[in-house]
Amino acid sequence: MTINLALLPLPASAEPSHFLTFGREVKDIHPGNCTPEQLEDIKQALYQHEILLFRDVVLTPEQQLSLTKAFDPDSEIYGHGAKLETETSSILHSALHAIPRVPQVQLIGNGMIHNHEGLSNARLNHSTHKTFHKTVVSLEDEAKGFTRFYRWHIDAALYDLSPPKVTTLYAVRVPKGPNQTCRYDDGTGDELVVPLATTAFVSGQTMFQQLPPELKSVAVRTKVKYAPHPYVWMAPARAKPTGLGIESDDLESPFDQLPPWVEDKIKIHPMLWQNPVTRMLSFQVHPSCATELIISPLPTNTARERALYPDGAHIDDLKEVRNLLYRMQRPAIAPNLVYPHKWNEKDLILFHNRGVLHTVVGTLRPDQVRVYHQCNLAASEDPTGPTSEDIIQWA
Ligand SMILES: [Fe+2]
Repeated sequence: MTINLALLPLPASAEPSHFLTFGREVKDIHPGNCTPEQLEDIKQALYQHEILLFRDVVLTPEQQLSLTKAFDPDSEIYGHGAKLETETSSILHSALHAIPRVPQVQLIGNGMIHNHEGLSNARLNHSTHKTFHKTVVSLEDEAKGFTRFYRWHIDAALYDLSPPKVTTLYAVRVPKGPNQTCRYDDGTGDELVVPLATTAFVSGQTMFQQLPPELKSVAVRTKVKYAPHPYVWMAPARAKPTGLGIESDDLESPFDQLPPWVEDKIKIHPMLWQNPVTRMLSFQVHPSCATELIISPLPTNTARERALYPDGAHIDDLKEVRNLLYRMQRPAIAPNLVYPHKWNEKDLILFHNRGVLHTVVGTLRPDQVRVYHQCNLAASEDPTGPTSEDIIQWA
């Protein structure tokens, strides 16, 4: 490998033994202007380490698109499709603004911006838990610096289009301010001190590895069915206080009131996705968009004692689906397993969107301007699930 990698600085809250391979800073390379050999090394490093950071980079939207596309040369359109701006009923609508000359690169952030990359004026809205969670942090506690994770997710349309392989996130302008304390508010007392407006990441590999054997067996045998137009479907519903999925209060839009959809375009993905380089399995489920779990029976000759769903199951009760997903995913967002990135302006992060979950965090005032360029591309193929050897190993 010809590139120079350094460890990411972990916060005091992170348990280093869980981050041995997770995250690297790439030194001495401009990611928008590198040789084919360096680009190949960057690709390998991303899949080995899940997150790559480049510091002090000046990057045009064109360079960002080109770098993102290098991971999947046959990909072309933005990960949520080309029509997101007209889908006003989508929960994503207000958060994203396409850069006119490179619409696959989206402007995200907070506050009013003027004359930026061809956009004369745009009001950016930092996604806050207050517009999405069922309960919210009180104004009094917010003034003391308490906040929450917004929504743990994979960047993916999860209808018609395949989940992007990589997301690139470039910090043009980073708001200044004190750390905030992210509260889980789920009865555990868990809290995490985070930099203002951090992006928080967790490893999908760790999410799988920390499961007890009986849930590893379920994970390796399960496929997840997503809603049609999931971000329209979920828009009226409200999330759990950890941002890890939705409360089951029957608020979702009925399927027959969604924009037109067809069964063929509904996404059914394995619960575990295989890393293309390391072959490790990551638990990759967007908990807010899932509707059904399809669990295969145990392979023949596998011990059945203590096994869950030994004969397989098709769980289509939304509350049951969410309860099982939460039981499987919540341990991996424990404070010591979260990497909250402390952004500096001109940081570029590449993350393996098929190997991590991430979320926006925090609360910003309108005058705390945050400007980021984000790019991901609907992939040319669906993710690969566990192999038959994986199923024998883990079931
Ligand atoms: Fe995202």
